[in-house]
Amino acid sequence: MQLIDGKLTAATIRQEIAAEVAAMVARGEKRPHLVAILVGHDGGSETYVANKVKACEECGFKSTLLRHEDDITEEALLAEVKRLNDDPDVDGFIVQLPLPKHINEEKVTEAIDPRKDVDGFHPVNVGRMTIGAPAFISATPQGIVNLLQRYNVPTAGKHAVVIGRSNIVGRPMSVLLSQKGLDCTVTVCHSRTPNIKEICLQADIIVAAIGKPGFVTADMVREGATVIDVGTTRVTDSTSPRGWRLKGDVDFQNVAPKCAFITPVPGGVGPMTICSLMHNTLLAGKKAIYK
Ligand code: GUN
Repeated sequence: MQLIDGKLTAATIRQEIAAEVAAMVARGEKRPHLVAILVGHDGGSETYVANKVKACEECGFKSTLLRHEDDITEEALLAEVKRLNDDPDVDGFIVQLPLPKHINEEKVTEAIDPRKDVDGFHPVNVGRMTIGAPAFISATPQGIVNLLQRYNVPTAGKHAVVIGRSNIVGRPMSVLLSQKGLDCTVTVCHSRTPNIKEICLQADIIVAAIGKPGFVTADMVREGATVIDVGTTRVTDSTSPRGWRLKGDVDFQNVAPKCAFITPVPGGVGPMTICSLMHNTLLAGKKAIYK
C-alpha cells in the first residue's frame, strides 16, 4: 500500500508556481492577483479562506480578502462581483460558499466573468471542461487528477467509481476521469444508488465524495484498488485541542491495507484543492485559458 501524500505534493506544486511567478515578475509581467469574497463567519469558510490567502503568499501572488457581514443584500454582493469583473488589476476571484440563505448562489456564480472564475463553477467553464476545451476546472477534481498523475496511478481502461454527484466534486470528477488521457470507464453512484457495495467491489479506483464519515468500508473495496477520500466532516474529538477532527468518507484503518494507493484525511485531497486554485490563478494571470 502506498500512501498518497497530498500535503507534500501540494507543497511541491506551490514551489513550482512560486518559481514561475518569480520568472514572470522578473520579466516585468504583472504579479497574479486573487481576490476572495467571504460573507459571514462560518467556521469552515473562515479556515478555507485563511488557507487560500496563506497559499497565495507562498506562491508569490497578490491576494485581497473582502469581508462582508451575512446581512449583505444579494444586490450589493452582485455589485461587488461586477466591480471585480471590471477591475483590470484582479486576475481571478472567488465567492466562498456557502452563502446565507437569502442569497441565490447560482445567480452569484453566474454573475462572475468566466475569464476570472478561478473556482471553475461558472456554467461556461463547466461546459468547456465537459467538451475538453480550455477551461478553469473545479479545484478538488483537478487536484485529484494531479495526485493520480504524480503517483503514476494507472487509469487507462480502469473502472473508476465516483460516489457523489455534487457540482463541485462528483460530477466534474466523473467527466475528467472519462476524458482522453485518463481514459477511465466511470460509474457515478449517489444517495439513490441501491447496490453501491457491489459496484465499488468492481472498482479499480474509488473516489469517495459523499460527505458521510467512514462510508466506504473494507468489504466494499477489492484488493489492489486505489481509494481517494474527499470527505472532510468535522467530528467531535475531546482529545483534540479544537474539540474536533476531520474524518473522511473512508474507514481508512481497515480499507488502507487492501489498497494499492490511498489518500489520508487530513493531508490527502484537501491540500491539493487549494493548490489547484493557485494553479488556476496562475493561468488567469497568464491569460492562458481565455486568450
Ligand atoms: N466552499 C467549499 N469549497 C469551496 C470552493 O472550492 N470554492 C468556493 N468558492 N467555496 C467553497
